[in-house]
Amino acid sequence: MQDFWLFGYGSLIWKPPPHFDQRIPGYIEGYVRRFWQQVYFSEDHRGTPNAPGRVVTLIERSFWATLDDPQRRTERDVVWGVAYHIIPSKVEEVKEYLDIREINGYSIQHTPFHPADSSLASIHCLVYIGMPDNPQFLGVQPPQDIANTINASVGPSGENREYLLHLERALEELCPDSHDEHITDLARRVRALTPPLREIRRPPVHDNALRKVRSTEEQEEIEKEG
Ligand code: BEZ
Repeated sequence: MQDFWLFGYGSLIWKPPPHFDQRIPGYIEGYVRRFWQQVYFSEDHRGTPNAPGRVVTLIERSFWATLDDPQRRTERDVVWGVAYHIIPSKVEEVKEYLDIREINGYSIQHTPFHPADSSLASIHCLVYIGMPDNPQFLGVQPPQDIANTINASVGPSGENREYLLHLERALEELCPDSHDEHITDLARRVRALTPPLREIRRPPVHDNALRKVRSTEEQEEIEKEG
């Protein structure tokens, strides 16, 4: 049986599929990653049917060339992620698990994967892509609109912004070249919309007298913060 390798470029980077025995960072060519896929119901419930969140999909180079994407002039068609090798006896089980993703508008493609460690040979990988003809594909979106939607969307699996910020961090940790400007730009916009929790919790100085303090440690903490 042929080896089964799966390329992950979204949540699969930090949330691996079951039954893998190798995980290799690297990239594929001929695509860009975009938050242009709506999500109602999925493995990553980050929205609701009335207020769907956004998840990533890949855009093929030939289609991308026809679009008026503001980031097109500054970016190469390279997508960093992770290739997973699935234990041969578990391939059917993992395919069944992954096929659930197809229900959410993702289709299967095959593409060469290039390991970050250039001493390793290229690998033939399967990848799930939300193609332009799937009903949840949105096409080019103004980045600030995407950021506003991500910032506001919450579903049973948690906040949509958490998915974006996880992806940003997972890419930073992958290897020195794995930066994705589309992702860091959106993360910057989302952080600007909602400051970190520490800042949200910190009250204006003049409110200090009104705050209820439950313990001495908490009082000390408040004094340190102020
Ligand atoms: C990914 O993480 O690579 C992914 C997850 C769901 C659908 C398509 C891709």
